[in-house]
Amino acid sequence: MQNRKLSNSQELAQKYIMNFIKRIPITFVKGKGLRLWDEDGKEYLDFVGGWAADSLGHCHPVLSRALSEQAKTLIHVSNAYYNIPQAKLAELLVKNSCLDKVFFANSGAEANEGAVKLARRWGALKLKGAYEVITAVNSFHGRTLSMVAATGQAKFQKPYEPLPAGFVNVEYNDLEAIKKATTSKTAAVMLEPLQGEGGVIIPSENYLKQVRAWCDEKGLLLILDEVQTGMGRLGKLFGYETMGIEPDVITLAKGIASGVPIGVLMAKDRASVFAPGEHGTTFGGNPLACAAGLAVTQYLIDHKIPENSYRMGQYFQSKLQELKSRYEFISDVRGRGLLIGLEFNRDIAENLMYACLEKGLVVNHLKPNLLRFIPPLVITKSEIDKGIKLFDEALSGLK
Ligand SMILES: Cc1ncc(COP(=O)(O)O)c(C=O)c1O
Repeated sequence: MQNRKLSNSQELAQKYIMNFIKRIPITFVKGKGLRLWDEDGKEYLDFVGGWAADSLGHCHPVLSRALSEQAKTLIHVSNAYYNIPQAKLAELLVKNSCLDKVFFANSGAEANEGAVKLARRWGALKLKGAYEVITAVNSFHGRTLSMVAATGQAKFQKPYEPLPAGFVNVEYNDLEAIKKATTSKTAAVMLEPLQGEGGVIIPSENYLKQVRAWCDEKGLLLILDEVQTGMGRLGKLFGYETMGIEPDVITLAKGIASGVPIGVLMAKDRASVFAPGEHGTTFGGNPLACAAGLAVTQYLIDHKIPENSYRMGQYFQSKLQELKSRYEFISDVRGRGLLIGLEFNRDIAENLMYACLEKGLVVNHLKPNLLRFIPPLVITKSEIDKGIKLFDEALSGLK
């Protein structure tokens, strides 16, 4: 598959789209639930869900209906005015979380930018001008220049040096490293509840509780980047609920509108320190995106989808453990809810991903020796069984 001739649509993309990513030579044209079809009519089972965004699967009728109704009513007005879907989505998010106030953006990175700006206002107002944000090595916070500085991975940072100031990257899952990095300049600590893109890294039981206590002691904001872990991915509506703490600020994106672009910044009342004019956006919070977010979030809550994520995640992991007992090159199965990593003792992940695609299974090759499973949260047992069977066939082909 890697070497097959590009189709007309792929040639077009190669010619006119910037060369920013190594593409897999498949053009998807249709989706329904967990199924995708390419332009040749081949069907696939999707265990990637648009990088953890398609929480309700593809083209869920509740979302399609909300979008088409809103598209016929009001698509966009500026934030100089009120709009109803924005207010309703904010209310729904607040009523179901420990946070009190919301700012809408358009992506995860943009929501995180907002969180860092909020931290700088917090530092200016409460911490004598402190402005630094401590983040973790191996984290992922997005692709804007500041979020590249926040993201503690050299491969994302090197091409863009010099990076914006104001970020300190310290080891993840290491409270002492945070303590050592805290100075009079520190305004906040920003962490993922578990590192997704970094390789499905789960911190130890007490880590976030200890970080919470440290932030309280020093008056720092604790920001959790829940762009990947939020909206049911870890088996609760928000990842922080699985960690036994309450953050001051969270960011969301990906799953909240099941594929429609939206980003969310939420804060406790005491941390909602923007004054009018200090932050803004043209598209963030527009009626179309918020109607999508409202329909999806309501569905997630009403249909207890986070619980499904928990149960199906357990089942999925048990199936992967069975495979681990049969294939000596599988070295680890780990995850929480439907964010699951499968690690190998050699670099086979890319070949395996292509072998899966040949069989009609879409999986995410995250590192040379790691696959990540981030399927839609509405996945069923029989879909897991079907996917595991295809995956087993792909694995046995590698032997
Ligand atoms: C934890 C986390 N934060 C931020 C982002 C960036 O989100 P976006 O691509 O919507 O800007 C991602 C994307 O993978 C992510 O996983």
